Amino acid sequence: MEAQRICILGGRGFVGRHLIPRLLRDGHDIRVVTRDMRGGARLPLLPDETVVQANPHDLEELAKVLEHADVVINLTGILNERGHNGRQFQQVHEELPRQMARICRAQGVKHVLHMSAVGAQAGMAPSFYLRSKGAGNNAIMVELGNVVPWTIFQPSVIFGPDDSFINRFAVLLRRVPGFFPLACPESRYAPVYVEDVAEAIARAVGNPRVFNKRLELCGPDVYTLRQVVEFTRDQLGIQRRIVGLSDGLSRLQASLMEFIPGKPFSRDNYQSTRIDSICQPDGRNCLGFEVFDMQPQRMAAVVPTYLKANAQDSG
Ligand SMILES: NC(=O)c1ccc[n+]([C@@H]2O[C@H](COP(=O)([O-])OP(=O)(O)OC[C@H]3O[C@@H](n4cnc5c(N)ncnc54)[C@H](OP(=O)(O)O)[C@@H]3O)[C@@H](O)[C@H]2O)c1
Repeated sequence: MEAQRICILGGRGFVGRHLIPRLLRDGHDIRVVTRDMRGGARLPLLPDETVVQANPHDLEELAKVLEHADVVINLTGILNERGHNGRQFQQVHEELPRQMARICRAQGVKHVLHMSAVGAQAGMAPSFYLRSKGAGNNAIMVELGNVVPWTIFQPSVIFGPDDSFINRFAVLLRRVPGFFPLACPESRYAPVYVEDVAEAIARAVGNPRVFNKRLELCGPDVYTLRQVVEFTRDQLGIQRRIVGLSDGLSRLQASLMEFIPGKPFSRDNYQSTRIDSICQPDGRNCLGFEVFDMQPQRMAAVVPTYLKANAQDSG
């Protein structure tokens, strides 16, 4: 694949940090858009990576940063909103992709890659998060149609050395003495390694095999949340009894944790757990890692390589 000028929205986040070095290895010219350069400045810049500050919700600023891009990758996303009515989810997950797609179409972008989530479904899904992600997928498909090739990625929960999934449980497990109350213990996930997600996105760039397709990205193993937390505990080598909360208590915990700064768990997160975060590719419009002959890595093989070191670093 020849080198492309790639513009990445939301590229200063977790996935972007792993994707950008991978894209640079392919010789692409990378421009990363952030709303706040100070946030970006905390991260070391890679040689050949250009970071520009812009508000992606401002149409003029968005059009300007997308100018001259051959390929656009959208990694923007939020897990929780400031309010409680779904408005911010809609703004970030639906309206932004719609405007981005319109501009890409008008400016003759050659391929748009958009990050969604497994289980996303407009109207049908149980949470604002998943419904807005589904509406964003629809906006991409409608606005780009058959004019600009698009690829939508729908991962399960993503893990990696700097994730906020396993690492968050690791921190909580170490802080909470005795027993650990766990909401939604039977919800199911197929955790996928961030390097595999980055590899799949890199292989998708300009690749006609995945034009106008959705790709569900899951790791090879399905775990309940209880199993994930037990695995994390065992890797840390600490004694904690994991106590699964009932549905009612899970909902109560979500309501209370909404008031903790940063909303570590919310009623909308609780709603998202009502469906399994696992992949069901159909081999036609919805593909998986197999389209790239990739075998995603197992959480049980990768997490032990970094978890203990992370735990020691965080004291
Ligand atoms: N991590 C996972 O387990 C997971 C699972 C499924 C799907 N996904 C999806 O994968 C994508 C990347 O995830 P990630 O883990 O890398 O997320 P992340 O670390 O939270 O980064 C997301 C980026 O979105 C941008 N952003 C946040 N709030 C925004 C707002 N209100 N308006 C515009 N931009 C905003 C931020 O960019 P700036 O602050 O630099 O502007 C941030 O760098 C997201 O779409 C996410 O929903 C992630």
